[in-house]
Amino acid sequence: MEPRVGPLSENEIAQFVELLQDSRAQDRIRIAQELASKAVAATLDPASESIGKKLFEGTTQFTNGGIACVTCHRAGAQGGTFGPDLTNLHTRMGKVAMISAIQQTQFLVMSGTYKNQPITAQEAVHLAEYLSIPELMPTASMEDNAPMIGASLGVISLLVVVGLYRKRSRNGFSRQRGIA
Ligand code: HEC
Repeated sequence: MEPRVGPLSENEIAQFVELLQDSRAQDRIRIAQELASKAVAATLDPASESIGKKLFEGTTQFTNGGIACVTCHRAGAQGGTFGPDLTNLHTRMGKVAMISAIQQTQFLVMSGTYKNQPITAQEAVHLAEYLSIPELMPTASMEDNAPMIGASLGVISLLVVVGLYRKRSRNGFSRQRGIA
C-alpha cells in the first residue's frame, strides 16, 4: 500500500474516514470551526458594522481589490439579484457560518469571483457583523402593514368559517338532529 495518497498521510485519511463515520460529525466540524474562528478573531480588530456596510456597498475598497458584494447581492433596500438576497441571512445562519460563507470556501460562483482577490478574515468579520443586524429587514412599509394585512386575512377567514358552519348546521347538522 502507498504510505501517502496525494497530500494526505494514511493516518490523516484514517482520521477523516473516522470523522465521516461519526454520526456527530456535523457537530464536531461546527465546534472545530468555531474554535478556529475564535482563534482567528482574537488576532483581529473588533467587528465593525459600519466598516462592513462600506465594504458591502463598495464605498470602501477590499484590501485585495475584489468587487463589492452589492454587485450581486441585495441586503436591505438595494443590491443585485445574481446572488441570493442576504437581507435575512442572520435568521438562517450564525455569524461563524457567515464568516466562512463570505470567505466562499463552499460556493462555486463566489470562489471563482474572489479566487485571485480573496476577502481577508478581517473583512469577512466586518461583513458578517453588518449582515447580522436586524435593521437590514427590508421595506419598512411592508413590515408595518404586515400586522394589518394579517389581521384582515384573519377576519376574512373567520367569516368564511362561520359562514360554512352556519350553512352546515342549516343543512346536514339540523337534518341529523331531525333524524335523531
Ligand atoms: C459575482 C457575484 C457575487 C459577488 C460579487 C458576491 N457574491 Fe455572494 N454569492 C453569489 C452567488 C451566485 C451565491 C450562491 C452560491 C454560489 O453559487 O456561489 C452567493 C452566496 C453567498 C452567500 C451564501 C448565501 C446563502 O443563502 O447561503 C453569502 C453569505 C454571500 N454570498 C455573501 C457575499 C458577500 C459578503 C460578498 C462580498 C464580499 C459576496 N457574497 C459577493 C454571488 C456573488
